[in-house]
Amino acid sequence: MENTISSLQQEINDFEFIAPADLEAFRLRYTVRKGLIAALFSQLKSVDPAEKPRIGHLLNELKRTADAKLSDAEQKLAPIKIDSNKRIDLTLPGRRYFTGSEHPVQKVLGEMKKIFSDMGFSIATGPELELDHFNFDMLNFPPDHPARDMQDTFFITDGNLESDVLLRTHTSPVQVRVMLDQKPPIRVICPGKVYRNEAISARSYCVFHQLEGLYIDKNVSFADLKATIYSFARQMFGADVKLRFRPSFFPFTEPSAEVDVTCYLCGGKGCRVCKKSGWLEIMGCGMVHPNVMRNCGIDPETWSGYAFGMGVDRTVLLRYKIDDIRLLFENDLRMLRQFTV
Ligand code: PHE
Repeated sequence: MENTISSLQQEINDFEFIAPADLEAFRLRYTVRKGLIAALFSQLKSVDPAEKPRIGHLLNELKRTADAKLSDAEQKLAPIKIDSNKRIDLTLPGRRYFTGSEHPVQKVLGEMKKIFSDMGFSIATGPELELDHFNFDMLNFPPDHPARDMQDTFFITDGNLESDVLLRTHTSPVQVRVMLDQKPPIRVICPGKVYRNEAISARSYCVFHQLEGLYIDKNVSFADLKATIYSFARQMFGADVKLRFRPSFFPFTEPSAEVDVTCYLCGGKGCRVCKKSGWLEIMGCGMVHPNVMRNCGIDPETWSGYAFGMGVDRTVLLRYKIDDIRLLFENDLRMLRQFTV
């Protein structure tokens, strides 16, 4: 027994750790529960009782030197493992995943919808591919109105044949569809995309967003229209905002007006955005023309109403200080990621 211990001692002393795999080899041969040292310990019970303390001592000594040699080698041979533990910096913030976000146009449209739905308007939608009839005729456009011109309207052609289908140039045909569909009183807003065949630049694009409003009831007056627009503008642009109604013309409203708000960038003092005027145009509006009501089977003697239509994109550009409208339509992730909440 004593000889076995001393030859094992010798073997352990001579063991050379060269590669990390040697650590495991050493452990398996000597120090694990089924290793050579443990096997000697189990033979201890058959040792002469008088010799037991001495042999036991030698065995303990053997075990201690084996363990010490192993842990010493571990320190030297497994520096990578130890380093990689150290390299985990628990103070670093976790990795953020991009989860997508609401498009800035939808954010602003959402605010507008909320303001009007709080005032009792419900939401109506209509097709973007529209009939000439709804986009123009029903809205009291004369047959030779310049808005029908190829310059403004994208007509959908069938080969060389002209068709009566077009990309809607405004959201007003949705008014017509709602009036044909519902009986007054009617109170709806119609948000959506509209298309115009215009030269593309930083300020105008071939597609943009409008939000149309329509209210038809008994004794609706221009004062109701003004009150609604005022209430909307104060919530959207701030309590101090001032409005200016300028007489205007639309075939489907009479009287008609265009509405300006005090420029909310300079507060009306005059800046680059409002071209030093202090005002920004936000919408067209007016009292629904009796011809439009009649076209839709609503008696203008009994009912009256107002309509308004506003551009959405300009407000988006000003709100987020974006200087090129094309950015709203290109879906460039570098731009969209700036709107993640
Ligand atoms: N449809 C008009 C436009 O696109 C805006 C408008 C809507 C004007 C409703 C009056 C009433 O310019």
